[in-house]
Amino acid sequence: MNRIFDATWQRTSLCGKFTEADAGKEVRANGWVRARRDLGGIIFIEIWDWTGLIQIVFNPEAGEIHKLAAALRNEDCIAVKGKMRIRPEGTENPEIKTGNIEIVASDFLVLSKSKPLPFEVGDNTDNVDENIRLKYRYLDMRRDRMQKNMRTRSKINAYTRKYLGERDFVELETPMLTKATPEGARDYLVPSRVNPGTFYALPQSPQLFKQILMVSGFDKYYQIARCFRDEDLRADRQPEFTQIDIEMSYIVEEDIMTLIEGYMKGLFKEIRNVDIPTPFIRMPYWEAMDKYGSDKPDLRVKLELCDLAEVFKNADFAPFKEMLNAGGVVRGLRLPGGANLSRAEIKALESKAIGLGLTGLANFLYKDNEIKGPLVKYLTPENIEQIKNISKLENGDALFLASHESRRKACEILGVLRLELGRKNPDLFDDSPDNWKFLWVTRFPLLEWNEDEKRWEAMHHPFTSPVLDEDPYMMENDPAGALARAYDCVLNGNEVGGGSIRIHDPEVQARVFKRLGITPEEAKRRFGFFLEALSYGTPPHGGLALGVDRLVMLLCEGSSIRDVMAFPKTQKAQCLLSGAPDEVESSRLDELKIIIDKDEEE
Ligand code: AMO
Repeated sequence: MNRIFDATWQRTSLCGKFTEADAGKEVRANGWVRARRDLGGIIFIEIWDWTGLIQIVFNPEAGEIHKLAAALRNEDCIAVKGKMRIRPEGTENPEIKTGNIEIVASDFLVLSKSKPLPFEVGDNTDNVDENIRLKYRYLDMRRDRMQKNMRTRSKINAYTRKYLGERDFVELETPMLTKATPEGARDYLVPSRVNPGTFYALPQSPQLFKQILMVSGFDKYYQIARCFRDEDLRADRQPEFTQIDIEMSYIVEEDIMTLIEGYMKGLFKEIRNVDIPTPFIRMPYWEAMDKYGSDKPDLRVKLELCDLAEVFKNADFAPFKEMLNAGGVVRGLRLPGGANLSRAEIKALESKAIGLGLTGLANFLYKDNEIKGPLVKYLTPENIEQIKNISKLENGDALFLASHESRRKACEILGVLRLELGRKNPDLFDDSPDNWKFLWVTRFPLLEWNEDEKRWEAMHHPFTSPVLDEDPYMMENDPAGALARAYDCVLNGNEVGGGSIRIHDPEVQARVFKRLGITPEEAKRRFGFFLEALSYGTPPHGGLALGVDRLVMLLCEGSSIRDVMAFPKTQKAQCLLSGAPDEVESSRLDELKIIIDKDEEE
């Protein structure tokens, strides 16, 4: 008789949900074979689904099915019928939820055999080469940790919809086939067949559309939006990723921050059962740079930078004095206990700092109540006292000094050392799982100087409102000092979100374009439709976008966003599972009027 999977084979419970209360009952289980063992003629297997494992016992008395069970291989998909029982004393497995029970099989059906496996599927798969895991992603996800990650992701999306829905936010979808959005990365382009020679851009974010929705009267919008950016990939960046994209009308910065604080509070309670303190610290960009050397500081690291200009503008050390006179900076990083670092360790730190752009990394070692270091001979006892006071240097500490013409660069380099030195020292870094350090970094510079192109660029995007309340003409008078009404949400050293209050005044917008060297003609060509929309009564508005992948990664204690995406891409932006990107038939290129330059390609 042809045995097929019908209702008589359907599971009576998920594998991990059977309990001792099922003992004595006829039950059915469906799942994948794991861990087959033969013990004195009795065959044991475990079968797995996302809820866990249940042990199945095939006794020799079962005859034919015992024989067939011997042929089962890992990851065969099966259905089993049998009687649940309490495991005999001494055979319990405390490692699994169902470790006190087992099903004595009376019949089973192979639903589908598995080919020999490219790697053993189980929770040690993390050691398997990631490219193999990505190629066979369906097998990689057939294990507890990946299941937990993906299911947490789904819960986060559900929570997001609930939280925003309850607050009158409208979920709207914006186009995937669209025009370039200026987020600073390259666009993925899609050729149009019906309009040969023209291209859509996949959205880097829904930025322009969400602002237009404010003009349309949707005063609270959100979208769990897929975004596409052709940029260099890292552990926290993917070419396609997901944002919780939000925009609101008639608001100021505090409204967005309070909304997101409430969101995070509820989310962390729901997913991790922790109470995170709100409101988060608000820290202007330059304070974050000066103190922590980063615009996304990891506040779990207990190290701070200091400013040594006061000392070196008077001290007799020419290189630093000249640097300060030329508008540069001298900054320090104190490392408690650092006087014991070996010469090799100090050398390695210096090499790193030089690699990052310093000419050298001077140091002071405070050992046996005496400060030593290559610069000591240039300094007076008063200078040394001053250094101790400013940097809070104590016996046993080291102090590293960075001098650079750029304040930002000097801080950033010490910021890298701060993380490296801090994160490996348990006294300076508390990385316990629920130590969540949130902050808002605010008042970013409006503009960034592009040295290659010799022009100012928007640090966020060109629609971000300048801070106008102090000097309304700062961007004209002192472009480097002009600030933006932009804010980033930072968690444990990760930028989990960013946004701004936008420009709603066409005159300010025109001034920003001018400062960026965008002519009215170019503005019209690139964003004409958007500027036109803004000219029909635009409410003041602002918003932000949270990086879903990064948020899920942190909540799942992962180290890469790839681990919380079902089908991520590699460093080379390839999907190893499907083989994308791929060549296409020449007939399809002909249709699109695209000619590939083979010589160039080679
Ligand atoms: P921004 O470019 O800062 O802002 O992006 C918002 C958040 O998205 C996440 N993110 C990424 N995650 C994974 N891979 C990437 N390649 C990637 N790029 C960004 C980050 C980041 O904080 N339109 C604005 C938002 C606004 O102004 O409202 C925007 O996209 O967590």
